[in-house]
Amino acid sequence: MKKTWNDPTLKPSDITPEDVYINRRHFLKMGAIGLGVVALTACGVETTKNEVGQTEPDYSKLDELGDPATSFEAIAGYNNFYEFSLGKEEVAPLAAKMTVRPWEVAVEGMVNRPRTFLIEDILAMFPREERVYRMRCVEGWSMVIPWLGFPLAAILKEVEPTSEARYVRFVSATLPDSMPGLRNPAFPWPYTEGLRLDEAMHDLTLISTGLYGKELPNQNGAPLRLVVPWKYGFKSIKSIVKIQLTAEQPDTLWSSVAPNEYGFYSNVNPGKPHPRWSQETERRIGEFKRRETIMFNGYAESVAGLYAGMDLDQYF
Ligand code: MTE
Repeated sequence: MKKTWNDPTLKPSDITPEDVYINRRHFLKMGAIGLGVVALTACGVETTKNEVGQTEPDYSKLDELGDPATSFEAIAGYNNFYEFSLGKEEVAPLAAKMTVRPWEVAVEGMVNRPRTFLIEDILAMFPREERVYRMRCVEGWSMVIPWLGFPLAAILKEVEPTSEARYVRFVSATLPDSMPGLRNPAFPWPYTEGLRLDEAMHDLTLISTGLYGKELPNQNGAPLRLVVPWKYGFKSIKSIVKIQLTAEQPDTLWSSVAPNEYGFYSNVNPGKPHPRWSQETERRIGEFKRRETIMFNGYAESVAGLYAGMDLDQYF
């Protein structure tokens, strides 16, 4: 079976980091079509394809640092969704077969008013807004994504967490008929994630139901997924069917697969290398030169206070 960056049996010698691989493809392609690119541009073609075959960023949508949104084609064509495939460009065509209606989300556990929401209830009850967030994947690439969503806090307030609730656990759908990746025994399905309750209640933490003003593409986690912009992308769990309030810190898929590599917090931290690669820089999809990774992915002003007094090397 094909080994990927996060296969726990992978040895350092097995590795071609994702970005090295992409850059190598870029060079091969540039070598082959270098003159062609110049000619096309001279013919007035406005959009150019980057090395993963996607169009240029959208300068009409900027994040608060002034960076443009990654193209829709890249956001919807270059995905991590292991229930479908480990191949980023194989996910979208496979996910097209997933049925996302009807869809229910149970919000339960240590709450006074447990409730199972239909996706239609969620769309009617919680007004959505656009938030342009950076997403930094633990693999060393990043995107800027114009999400449509609402704060997770809104749905949590609706069910009234009890005073004992301290954490939130999230569970993704398992749909064996449409998700061939579930047959991969390397992972303890379902995909699960977790947040501390104060992280979950933070205004930056979103439930997203769309992007670029449209319904969420299946490959991006339809019909609803979590978005936590100051944490590595794998915390942003897709196609959620259950949200549970708990007293104890929940296990997560990644922390059970490789606890020394993927901690519960997983805050973006350029000073804490992954055991197999540095996290100091990243490659923004659509750009060629690497850029420096920023502490808490640039959201420190809003979220650093959540971790005051914590040793972020120990609680990584
Ligand atoms: N959620 C589920 N259920 N399954 C997954 O494989 N991959 C995670 C996260 N959420 C994943 C998931 C990882 S590693 C990343 S980087 C992001 O989704 C990717 O989100 P995107 O494809 O929308 O860019």
